[in-house]
Amino acid sequence: MGDWFLEAGRNPLISKAVRGLSLPVSFPPELRRADGPFTESPLAGMTIRTTGGRCPFIAGVIEELGARNDDGSGELDGLVYDATGIMSPAGLDALFDEVRPVLPRLSTGGRILLLHEPTVDAATPVEAAARSALDGFVRSLAKELGRKGITVNRIEVQPKARKRLAPLLAYLLGNRASFVTGQPFEVTTRAREPADAPLVHPLSGKVALVTGAARGIGAATAIRLGAEGAHVVCLDRDQDLERLRDVAESCGGSVLPVDLMDADASTRIREHLHGSFGGVDIVVHNAGITRDRTLGRMKPEEWDAVMRINLRVILEVTDTLLDRTLASYGRVIVLSSVGGIAGNPGQTNYAATKAALRGWVSAMAAQLGRRGITVNAIAPGFIETRMTAEMPPVPREFGRRLSALGQGGTPLDVAEAITFLSTPGASGITGQTIRVCGGLFVGA
Ligand code: NAI
Repeated sequence: MGDWFLEAGRNPLISKAVRGLSLPVSFPPELRRADGPFTESPLAGMTIRTTGGRCPFIAGVIEELGARNDDGSGELDGLVYDATGIMSPAGLDALFDEVRPVLPRLSTGGRILLLHEPTVDAATPVEAAARSALDGFVRSLAKELGRKGITVNRIEVQPKARKRLAPLLAYLLGNRASFVTGQPFEVTTRAREPADAPLVHPLSGKVALVTGAARGIGAATAIRLGAEGAHVVCLDRDQDLERLRDVAESCGGSVLPVDLMDADASTRIREHLHGSFGGVDIVVHNAGITRDRTLGRMKPEEWDAVMRINLRVILEVTDTLLDRTLASYGRVIVLSSVGGIAGNPGQTNYAATKAALRGWVSAMAAQLGRRGITVNAIAPGFIETRMTAEMPPVPREFGRRLSALGQGGTPLDVAEAITFLSTPGASGITGQTIRVCGGLFVGA
């Protein structure tokens, strides 16, 4: 089901008429979205301002990614504020003095990125307070600027992980993270770094498994991973075989019909990956279901089905693949949900499973970092798929509008985040839950 309000805003006649009536209505901004695979110059055509701090190399990195550095005049596509030297509230005043005057120069769909060192590593409580303040600043500014399609995010980087920043800068400043805002990222050396991290076709020669690939986020992910060079094994239920074949054809991959409710699902998956490919590099646990009902009325089978598909099978399959079927420097990505952060009435089962995954990725990342394997969760907000099309109209409309960007995301927005996390260059990011939610007002 399409977003009628976004469509109306795209229609020049309707938007002109609404402006003429001076109604207190503003249409959601049109978000910039990249198409096609990664390129050498993901920031080509953009003008970006970078400031001070302890990472002066960032201006050079941004230039290498194809952007022009700001000469102090004209429109800006991005601002990178390097707060790695922030020690006290005086540093916050400097932030205010630098960011505020630049805001009028930021283009629709522009980017603001703050960089600082981890709050937990601060040398003094005062320094910790200053670093921690950046979180509230970013979340609030994201909510203020979302109506212009501007995103505001924050990166906590360990000093020894600075050289792992470039791929994340390319992702967040470019046009593949348009629905990611108000989000903290951590860049660490927790997972070993692969020898090579190409920007273009980074997944060449890799094998990826995507569960629930017949439609929605899973289908978009399979297609994006395929476009970056991976062979994608597309898994879904037998009843979706036709759709699954279409997706596999679009991404140059293959099909694996398995019902994840079946007790032997994980052994069949392992045997297939091992037998046909000798292993797997990227596992995307995307299949998920809802069986919404308040707890008092929830039937045991509704609880069980959600526990099985959204949680148990993910733990089981991963465990089975850890016999070294999952390659070193592998990537595991699970689909959590903002519902697992904020909770929703009628979703005790769903929210419990999605929250469980946040704890799981954090603990798994600690275990697997030595093998170079990263484990992360994506928590989508409101994404336009069959799952959200089935919602009653009023909550559906609230889901779309109660966010900084005032609209739902697309399966591609989530697929872009998953694809980025699947690349060798994303080795600095592990154990995290990344919201792709357009800055939802609840749970973000
Ligand atoms: P969807 O309902 O469009 O697609 C899910 C896919 O999983 C379907 O193709 C379905 O056949 C497959 N699947 C379900 N049960 C299965 C089973 N027993 N065996 C094999 N495959 C099975 O869902 P959507 O919206 O694409 O969501 C994907 C993931 O993202 C889910 O984990 C969902 O919880 C999560 N998510 C989605 C949000 C949204 O707004 N659409 C928001 C937050 C999280």
